[in-house]
Amino acid sequence: MEKLALHGGEKAKKSEWGTGKRFGEPELQQLKEALDQETLFYWFGNKVKALCEKFKTMYGSKYCVATSSGTASIHVALGAAGVTEGDEVIVSPITDMGSVIGILYQNAIPVFADLDPHTYNMTAETIEACISEKTKAVVVVHLAGNPAEMDEIMALAKKHNITVVEDCAQSYECFYKGRKAGSIGDFGCFSLNDFKHISAGDGGMVLTNDEESFYTAAGFADKNYDRYQRDVHASEIPFIAPNYRMNELTGAVGLAQLDRVEGICARRNEIGMRLTEALKDLPGVYPPEVKDYNKSSYWFYMLRIDEKEAGCTREEFSEALAAEGIPNQPGYIPFCVYMNKLFLEKTGYMGTHAPFDSKYYGKEIEYKAGLCPNAEEILNTAIRFGISEFFTDTDVEEIIHAFRKVSAYFQSKK
Ligand SMILES: Cc1ncc(COP(=O)(O)O)c(C=O)c1O
Repeated sequence: MEKLALHGGEKAKKSEWGTGKRFGEPELQQLKEALDQETLFYWFGNKVKALCEKFKTMYGSKYCVATSSGTASIHVALGAAGVTEGDEVIVSPITDMGSVIGILYQNAIPVFADLDPHTYNMTAETIEACISEKTKAVVVVHLAGNPAEMDEIMALAKKHNITVVEDCAQSYECFYKGRKAGSIGDFGCFSLNDFKHISAGDGGMVLTNDEESFYTAAGFADKNYDRYQRDVHASEIPFIAPNYRMNELTGAVGLAQLDRVEGICARRNEIGMRLTEALKDLPGVYPPEVKDYNKSSYWFYMLRIDEKEAGCTREEFSEALAAEGIPNQPGYIPFCVYMNKLFLEKTGYMGTHAPFDSKYYGKEIEYKAGLCPNAEEILNTAIRFGISEFFTDTDVEEIIHAFRKVSAYFQSKK
């Protein structure tokens, strides 16, 4: 029995973590070209246009709109889908606020669907339980690079005439039955913020195969200016839309980053698969479930601890792991999204109860603890740590060693 680092033993993590550079010459070259254009406006320059061309080709989608963030891309998709005051939009309770903000800005009502306990994604079954006559769309979050079960979700959406927005902010190069997440729903939304697989500082992308949706989305990301001049009444703005335009500098960095994304995701997939293979037999340790026909790009690695089987609390496991030199966090977001004050007190906008008390909605919705029991249980039992494409094989083996050591110790105490 190895002595835990927590008790003065040697750390499992002995080597320096692998590192690397995310940005380099290709980004500099693209930025120089962007500046040499003497314009940084997407409509006059070529970088954002080239980014959209390249991205939609990579995804096999017909159309792409570039935006200023992942949050913006989801809002654009919802706006293009016609989501408006009084509608309900179904969304995951374990996600970034960016999945939800656009719903509220459309004065629509977020309805939270529970999650599968091991994939951490919404399922057709949990979505169906939330459908009402008010449901207009569903935002399907593919959490941490692991795809949701899209065939069943698409069939359900079709049956109920609901728009499917895929939130792929955490899931570049994430494959559902061989198809890329983001190319399956009515819209696929991506983020280029600095914490994602690839970064342009901030930025977002929206994919769609529907021509009308594309033009509506393009307008919605650009104050509803009809730059394509398809409408003879182009000067008549039909409804409000924000300015979510991507600029040429962001487009330039994004273009260079796209060349890196496949390699980054392939390495992360390799690391994630190795971890799961090695950790799945440890008592009380439940790695994230990725169906054998799917492929995750592991934006992070989140597993669950069964305290009885593991012989310790999730916090004890997490602390012991940290002492071994493996930085990690118990849980993910501190609580389900619906436990935020803005939902509990229904204050979407400062000083009012909009949009929850809208006359167009005319229903009561209740947000409270217990709404999504699986999601709450996931957050109460999970341990999460970052994965990097720069991890060496030694890093990965040392993480595994740390888990084995910690597990063996607590098993011996049972
Ligand atoms: C699942 C998910 N959706 C949406 C967003 C929002 O993206 P952005 O930060 O680019 O607005 C994020 C970002 O963290 C995310 O993780």
